[in-house]
Amino acid sequence: MRIDSTEKLGQWQKECQKRIEAQKKRVLVCLGPGCLAGGSDQILEEFKNILAQKKIKDVTVESIKKTGCHGLCARGPLVVIEPEGIFYSKVKKANVAEIVEKTLEKGELVEKLLYTDPESKKKIVDYKEIPFYARQMKLSLRNVGQIDPDSISDYIARGGYAALAKVLKSMKPAKVIDEVSRSGLRGRGGGGFSTGRKWASCAKIESDIRYVICNGDEGDPGAFMDRCIMEGDPHSVLEGMIICAFAIDSPEGYIYVREEYPLAVVNLRNAIDAARQHGLLGKDIMGSGFDFDIKINRGGGAFVCGESSALMKSVAGEVGEPRAKYVRSVAKGLHDKPTVLNNVESFATIPVIIDKGADWFASIGTKKSTGTKAFSLAGKITNTGLIEVPMGITLREIIYDIGGGIPEGRKFKAVQTGGPSGGCLPEAKLDLPVDFDTLTEAGSMMGSGGMIIMDDRTCMVDVARYFLNFLVEESCGKCVPCREGLYQLHKLCVKICEGKADEDDLALMERLSKVIQTASLCGLGTSGPNPFLSTVMYFRDEYLAHIRDRKCPGGVCKELITYSINDKCTGCMACIRVCPVNAITGEKKKLHVLDQELCTKCGSCYAVCNFDAIDIV
Ligand SMILES: Cc1cc2nc3c(=O)[nH]c(=O)nc-3n(C[C@H](O)[C@H](O)[C@H](O)COP(=O)(O)O)c2cc1C
Ligand code: SF4
Ligand code: SF4
Ligand code: SF4
Ligand code: FES
Repeated sequence: MRIDSTEKLGQWQKECQKRIEAQKKRVLVCLGPGCLAGGSDQILEEFKNILAQKKIKDVTVESIKKTGCHGLCARGPLVVIEPEGIFYSKVKKANVAEIVEKTLEKGELVEKLLYTDPESKKKIVDYKEIPFYARQMKLSLRNVGQIDPDSISDYIARGGYAALAKVLKSMKPAKVIDEVSRSGLRGRGGGGFSTGRKWASCAKIESDIRYVICNGDEGDPGAFMDRCIMEGDPHSVLEGMIICAFAIDSPEGYIYVREEYPLAVVNLRNAIDAARQHGLLGKDIMGSGFDFDIKINRGGGAFVCGESSALMKSVAGEVGEPRAKYVRSVAKGLHDKPTVLNNVESFATIPVIIDKGADWFASIGTKKSTGTKAFSLAGKITNTGLIEVPMGITLREIIYDIGGGIPEGRKFKAVQTGGPSGGCLPEAKLDLPVDFDTLTEAGSMMGSGGMIIMDDRTCMVDVARYFLNFLVEESCGKCVPCREGLYQLHKLCVKICEGKADEDDLALMERLSKVIQTASLCGLGTSGPNPFLSTVMYFRDEYLAHIRDRKCPGGVCKELITYSINDKCTGCMACIRVCPVNAITGEKKKLHVLDQELCTKCGSCYAVCNFDAIDIV
């Protein structure tokens, strides 16, 4: 069906909603990256197979839906049964028959698959009551985990393309830009620049053509928000882009997708085809006379290709190298024409702003960082996964109330925000509100929203070394301060980790950081020293322990630690089995012995010992 008027969209929405309401039960199987790795595709198939053979009242094969990431990846694979919101976690293919028989046929619960609250030990049935979900507010992730990304009617049923209809029917381009500006939306890709201002500057420039680009490169280690939006709710990105195109009068858009995200490409492509078929993309969108189409570009496989000017070169088929910032890409972007480049999450948020209004959006979050922000929680945190929270929430609320705290009763040490060029914040900063400016003032940054949590077994010098190494490898090499400076900074960091550095080296690293920050050409270089600067600011004593005492307090830097077996050893033999160099000897149920001469400090014995019998000194 071609939607040739905004009224027709309204009718279609009603039909889609009716169809969904007619399904008395809906079984949502998460096919997000985490659950998929746990075999959720087989769970989906098993549901379909069983339901194809069995006749159950009100439940058909159509009741089984694949969705994007539901959020609580740590407990995947997840199956949610609507309308009750029954939440089954750590589901296996072998559990499917029981779910069908008990829950779908008889309306009973499969107790063992329900979520158990770690504190009260009570079983929680409805996922909305699980603390991980209860504290969140999902705007950009509104449909992720709720709809089948391949079903345009699922998107329409949840109000999809209604914001576009509103824009086409009743708003002038200037009004759209004004609404986005007043909402206070700041770009979710890292820099936090006002989206409305960006659109306004682009629209102002005289040109025969303007372009819209969506940045789906997401190169930060540990970040997967954009991936989950592109995979789980591709139409929201398209709708945001079309609204932007209308606002700046652009006929052509591109989505630049990270090379490692093939499923995002497939789902976006399907969404583009479906939107075109229904007259929501391409020529004469919804009969309004407005034309706009979108193409997908595969990423160049380099972190620096996420930088705006490098990305535009890459889209144009050139080498993705950044250029100096005095040329603004809103004025001279793709093919040197005015271009708006926004992040995936930024675009996915646009329809919500248009739908609910700028004032509503601006009332969420803080004065200067309005709305919500999606984060991926990774590292040493109980509830690894995907969340979205109002800006201004504290780091402590994110890490403890939503994230469930640090596993195995260990102590929190630091949280890394803002990707490789972000920074690490210590426990003393946990009560900081999460917003663009506060995080930057604290020496870190919001970045695109990857959060990596570290416990007391982390060495902060080693963390700086890891991120500096990442940046050295990803530097495009075009300018000397970044190419040579980050290389030297990393080399000095390694020297500290090896216990070979003195305090002059530390002072040199601080001076060098200033040069790299001020003289580099693009954001990779100017923020490149952040992993070092933030760790040396908050964990200076750890640097000094490596330098003065030749000790690694986190027990990580190989050259500065030794492993030894203490008298808690039960003689369980687990360590003997994993030691790759036979450095451990001992008999069953007797204290074991570790030969320092043979030990290569691989840490395998430490990892497997369940009796706290291996010390790192
Ligand atoms: C080295 C480097 C890598 C970047 N990678 C990304 C990325 O993967 N995704 C992204 O949206 N922005 C990335 N950015 C920021 C973009 O240059 C740009 O500011 C952003 O995409 C604009 O969209 P926004 O205003 O919606 O945030 C990167 C910047 C730098 C300096
Ligand atoms: S700062 Fe680094 S990544 Fe950016 S242009 Fe210079 S060398 Fe390339
Ligand atoms: S794994 Fe631990 S308890 Fe078991 S033998 Fe080794 S040191 Fe002893
Ligand atoms: S650290 Fe590695 S090499 Fe050394 S004793 Fe343990 S398992 Fe063996
Ligand atoms: S991938 Fe299933 S919950 Fe995140």
